[in-house]
Amino acid sequence: MSAQNHGKRVTAASIFARKRSKEPIVSLTAYDAPTAAILDQHCDLLLVGDSVGMVVHGLPSTVGVTIEMMILHGQAVMRGAHQAMVVVDMPFGSYEESPEQAFRNAARILGETGAQAVKLESGRYAAETIRFLVERGVPVMGHVGLRPQAVNVTGGFRAKGRTTEERAEILAEAEATAKAGAFACVVEGVAEDLAREITEKINTPTIGIGASSACDGQILVTQDMLGLFDWTPKFVKRYAGLRQTINDAVERYAEEVRSRAFPEAAQVYHLRPVKPGG
Ligand code: KIV
Repeated sequence: MSAQNHGKRVTAASIFARKRSKEPIVSLTAYDAPTAAILDQHCDLLLVGDSVGMVVHGLPSTVGVTIEMMILHGQAVMRGAHQAMVVVDMPFGSYEESPEQAFRNAARILGETGAQAVKLESGRYAAETIRFLVERGVPVMGHVGLRPQAVNVTGGFRAKGRTTEERAEILAEAEATAKAGAFACVVEGVAEDLAREITEKINTPTIGIGASSACDGQILVTQDMLGLFDWTPKFVKRYAGLRQTINDAVERYAEEVRSRAFPEAAQVYHLRPVKPGG
């Protein structure tokens, strides 16, 4: 958490200003209150990503995530985080139909969670919606490059921008997202030179995931960087080995229950009898 926050919550305007100040934006995903409380001490921005569907609920993609799930997790994160800006993802099907549909659902998300902003995957079609939301008081974070909600069309979770046409399309999407008024834009799964070109060309801060250090900030899925899964994409750096730690702890617990070594005296209640009339 940057020193100048003095305990106040980070705003969309202060994230936007990072483009000029060049102070890198630190962000991670969050889905629950106790984890959010830890991340809050170190991050500028917490994203309640629709990746929650895959990371927490075991779905094969983010396509099955509902607005109710996002609201429930958004509320939990808001209970844990008091300094970082909290952004909630708009799930697939909740914003693509029309700007009016997007506003109705964004207003519900902000109203029921208390979060500061929404994120939506911003293909070029989304520029009109972003402008519509921002003009009506909803801060929006865009998301270009690899767009997980589009995997059924694009054919999987592969890095984007390999062909000249695809590069031009992603750059155009980022420019349209910025022009429409997004306060920040996630750039996912693109090569370093494209991430640099986008970052240099748009006046909105870019937050990279699998998009090199050329971006104005970085985001990772928290459970990926904590090593909760046995497989992670190439761009993830593991800062801990939570999967092994949890496995070892649960293995010991199971052994101790089976051998009756747990609970020990320290974990057992010994109630003193209450004296009559005392
Ligand atoms: O849903 C998500 O967690 C995201 C981040 C990976 C950027 O969109």
